[in-house]
Amino acid sequence: MTDQRPRRALISGITGQDGSYLAEFLLDKGYEVVGLVRRSSMVSFERIAHLQDRLTIVSGDLLDEASLIEALQQHRPAEVYNLAAQSFVQTSFGQPVLTGETTALGVTRLLDAIRIVDPSIRFYQASSSEMFGKVREVPQTEDTPFHPRSPYGVAKVYGHWITVNYRESYDLHASSGILFNHESPRRGLEFVTRKITHAVASIYLGRQRELRLGNLEAKRDWGYAGDYVKAMWLMLQQDQPDDYVVCSGETHSVREFCELAFAHLGMDYQEFVVVDEAFMRPAEVDLLVGNADRAERTLGWRREVGFGDLVAMMVDADVDLLQGKLKGLS
Ligand code: NAP
Ligand code: GDD
Repeated sequence: MTDQRPRRALISGITGQDGSYLAEFLLDKGYEVVGLVRRSSMVSFERIAHLQDRLTIVSGDLLDEASLIEALQQHRPAEVYNLAAQSFVQTSFGQPVLTGETTALGVTRLLDAIRIVDPSIRFYQASSSEMFGKVREVPQTEDTPFHPRSPYGVAKVYGHWITVNYRESYDLHASSGILFNHESPRRGLEFVTRKITHAVASIYLGRQRELRLGNLEAKRDWGYAGDYVKAMWLMLQQDQPDDYVVCSGETHSVREFCELAFAHLGMDYQEFVVVDEAFMRPAEVDLLVGNADRAERTLGWRREVGFGDLVAMMVDADVDLLQGKLKGLS
């Protein structure tokens, strides 16, 4: 007789952008979803408030291995998605040790907890195109060598290789998704896309006069977060674990993003954008563009939202948010 119980998944980083979309996606598939949340004096459940009565929340921190072992023992998930990280590149220059503890060693703590509690758990690691850094080839694939340009990128390279190492050493079903930048109306306000769309909405409504940005020439391969969480799930449904690049295959500059976002509300970005040294990085990633052939062929994954639609979606959502039409986040 086959097991009819719903599959259970544990998501670290469930309060983040991707965690909220992945939780929605898994709940729609009939999963029981357990979210690992670290203790803080104020809860940050904004992105998952609409899901809260369908989720189980467990306390745990990537800095504390015992809490991870406890969470796994208590809930016995079949799949673990490790999305938790100190994920902001700029902050990683100011807090390199904390970034390493969370974004690098945190992965080892979670993998080790899985090895101890139940090595049959399937594991997803949120790796990043930031690992390619000063790119060695264009476009980047799973075989492109890494050359990270920030403490965050270095930490992600460690997280990537420890995932491969646990797969090879202990035969864990551990996969690494090398995801290129993905955005949404739920993106944190410090990341450039959301900083731009929020400012565009605010300027349009007469609440802000200018937008101060750093390097306008950096190019990124931007996609929609809602499309990318599906690839995470698909990786854990394969017979064999592997590494996969997930991207749109297109690259656009920060300047182009500004141009489109302001134009969406009939404005010219040149009248409002001011370049400010404060937002420049000690070392920059100039160009990212990926090749998702493996994910498309093996997983059957396709992105659905294109660049123009993504920009329009984010600007419209920020106008609604500032006008009070959205209570939380769409
Ligand atoms: P995000 O919005 O910054 O969310 C990060 C999550 O990690 C939050 O839920 C945060 O919890 C949690 N967290 C941080 N430190 C923790 C700790 N010590 N213990 C437990 N939880 C902790 O990031 P995201 O954009 O959703 O990205 C998800 C993952 O994908 C990250 O690992 C990121 O590095 C990676 N990634 C993202 C992209 C992208 O373009 N978005 C691309 C490639 C890879 P709090 O709410 O308590 O802060
Ligand atoms: N944040 C920010 N703020 N970035 C700016 C600004 C600004 O005012 N002005 C220019 N930029 C440039 C940055 O220098 C960078 O080249 C680019 O915009 C994108 O910056 P972010 O949106 O902060 O994202 P990121 O590419 O550094 O990192 C994101 O993507 C990675 C995947 O490649 C994060 O989500 C990482 O967690 C993720 O791994």
